[in-house]
Order: sequence, then C-alpha cells, then structure tokens
Amino acid sequence: MSYENDARIINDDIFDLITEYFSQEKSSQNIGSRVDFFNTYNNYFVLTDDGSYSINSREINHKVETLHTSTGAISESFEKFIKPMKFNYSKDIAILDICAGLGYNTSAAIADFMKNSSTNLTIDMVEISKATLACGLLVPSPIKEHDITKKAIENELIAQDYANLSLEKTEIPSNIDITVYIEDARQTVQKLDDNKYDAIFLDPFSQNMAPELFSIEFFKEFRRVIKDDGIVATYTSSAPVRAGFIEADFYIGQGPIFGRKQGGTLASPNPLMLDTSLPKNDEIRIALSDVGIPFRDPNLNNSSDFILDKRTEERHLARHSTKISSAVKTPIFLACEMEDEKLKRRVERNLAKMNIPSTMSDEAKYIVECENNYSKKQDNENNSRNRILNMKKRLKEVKDGSYG
Ligand SMILES: C[S@@+](CC[C@H](N)C(=O)[O-])C[C@H]1O[C@@H](n2cnc3c(N)ncnc32)[C@H](O)[C@@H]1O
Repeated sequence: MSYENDARIINDDIFDLITEYFSQEKSSQNIGSRVDFFNTYNNYFVLTDDGSYSINSREINHKVETLHTSTGAISESFEKFIKPMKFNYSKDIAILDICAGLGYNTSAAIADFMKNSSTNLTIDMVEISKATLACGLLVPSPIKEHDITKKAIENELIAQDYANLSLEKTEIPSNIDITVYIEDARQTVQKLDDNKYDAIFLDPFSQNMAPELFSIEFFKEFRRVIKDDGIVATYTSSAPVRAGFIEADFYIGQGPIFGRKQGGTLASPNPLMLDTSLPKNDEIRIALSDVGIPFRDPNLNNSSDFILDKRTEERHLARHSTKISSAVKTPIFLACEMEDEKLKRRVERNLAKMNIPSTMSDEAKYIVECENNYSKKQDNENNSRNRILNMKKRLKEVKDGSYG
C-alpha cells in the first residue's frame, strides 16, 4: 500500500457521515438509502485503478492513509494476500483476516475458495472500527463474493445495534463460516485457539501509524494460533516488521510486489512454505544495523506513540554498542571493495566502533560469510532467517572480542 503518498485529505469526515447515516436508517427504515448514500457522498470514496473503491483513514499520528493502494483495492487483495497462500483445498481451510476494513481480503479469499474447493471455510475477521465495516456495506461490491462478506458484516452490526435493517439478500453458503470481531486485534488474538489457521492476513496501516500491529508480542500470538504449515502475509517490506517475525520464531520470505517498489513479507513456521528469500541487503541490514530493532508491546496494550518512542530510544542505545549504525547503510558494505573514498571513510568510522577494522577485514568477511551461499530459493537450512541469525551471532562475537 502506498497510502501516504496517495492520501487525499478531506475536510469532512466520512466516518461521522456513516455513523449518522446508520443511526438515521434505524428511525427512517428507508431500505433504498444505502445506495443513495454512496451516490450522494461519492466524492468521499477513492476510485482505484481496477474500479474498486477505497476510503481515506481518520487522521492518526498526523497522517492520513487510504485503506488500499491506488493501483487497485480488490486486485491488491488477490495479489498480496491470496496468491502467496498455498492452500490445500482438499482440506478445510481457516483464515484470520486482521484489519478487515471493507472486507476485500475476506471476499477475495471466499472467491478463491469457491472456485477451488467444496470443503469448509472458516474466516475470522477482525476490525476495530464499526464505521469502517459499515462502509463496506455502502461501497459497490467489486466482486460478487463481497456480497457474502457484506451479509456477515451486516449480521454483526445488527447484533451490536449499529445497523438495524437486514438489507443484504445474499445468503452465506452453508460450508462458509464467518465470524466478525469488532475490537482491537490485540485483544482478539489472545482469545483464539492454538494451531487453528492456515493463513493470517495482516493488513494494518503503515508501521508509523500502527506499530502496535507489528510488534514481536503480537506476532508471538500469531505463532501460537497458526498451523505448522500456515502462512502470514503482509504488504510491508519494513525491516523492524521482518525482525519482529524472526524474534517471534517465524521463517520469513519475500512477498509479491504490487503497487509498490518492494515485495511484501511472508512468514511461516515452515521455511518450505516460503519460496523466495529476502534480498541480500535486506537480510544484512536486519541482522546487523539498528533498523532491525523490532517494535515491542509487552502487554499488548501500549499506545502507538509509546511503541514508536521506545523503539527510537532502543535504536539510539544499540547503535555502536550491539548494532552497526544504519547511517549510509553501513553494513551492506561489509566484505565489499569501496571506490568512493568519502563514503568509505564514513562507513569505516561506523565499523571501527564495532571493532571491525575495515570493510575488507577478516572480521567483516567473517560476519557476512553466510551470504556467500545466498540463494533466492529457500530450503530448510539455507534461508533468510538462518542467515540473519548467523550474522547477528557473528557480529556479537566480533564486538565482544570472542571472535578469532
Ligand atoms: C489498510 S486498512 C485494511 C483494509 C482491509 N483489509 C480491506 O480489505 O478493506 C486498515 C484497517 O485496520 C483497522 N485497524 C486499525 N487499528 C486496528 C486494531 N488495533 N485492530 C483491528 N483493526 C484495526 C482500521 O480501522 C482499518 O480499517
């Protein structure tokens, strides 16, 4: 998602309009008015390149993001969340859809399932905002399976006394079971059963808006609830997010590229479920520099500002002590000849603080030695997680003098 760049700031708040609309629906009992709402407030919806609609978020930490990439909201669901999954459709499937929003990821999952399987599908959708789910009832369905999702959302909004009229006519097929949790996903995950899910879709706003949904502790809950061959998919390629997955005992790999320059991230307890390694330099930076400091939320209840501030503090403390400075991407020059003398001086100043004499020193080569065996295809031994952990260990040995 390229939310920040594409975000359009609007003056009135669509969320207030939606809440007001649903409270009026109750009193007026006007069954035509959901369509009218979309027609009247069309300007508040963002048309994406594939014809499906998105909306802008509320302002969070002084930022506004659209909920989906401008390249195509529903296409994004298929490309980033469905295609990388290796669903075994001869068996029952269970999916956890975190940050369900308008319900596009769930709808894409239903479409793929109905095309390929006649077994049973369970989807647990989690979304903190009733108004956002309600907005899912107001947008035109980008695919017909969205009508099934709408029915599940409508049922829950009626149960929670937010909506009043049962207007969605599509029935949920008997082999599909959808539960909608309307609360902070950090609370929901703690209630879920162990070992239940084949797939987890993780689709929050970006890490600067929602670091609480990218923390190690949150990912540890994923590790508990996911099956051994399950896959978590998220759109971000961010170093702290990837580092968080590793600390939560996941293998990680590169996800599909769609609407952004870099591929997203896939995580699984089983490395063989992840085809493609992270790019080499991403591995090196996560392992060795302070950008690889993850987000922490020990009791799953800290504010986003607190989590961001704590990480910044931790990065400052780690720099030149347990991690190489991320300035000028220093670690990616380990074991490299450098021609740019000015850059080389800066890099080697940073390396010296970690007891690494130069980019071509034995210490430098020792730390990144495993990258000589880098292969894009992952296997049980040769994979991004193992290389990152190996480099981390070797950096520690060099810094504390136990190397050699
Ligand atoms: C990028 S949008 C998700 C789009 C969505 N997957 C779809 O298919 O439309 C992020 C969503 O995360 C929700 N959200 C933010 N914080 C949350 C939290 N702590 N728990 C659950 N949902 C949250 C927002 O309300 C927003 O709808």
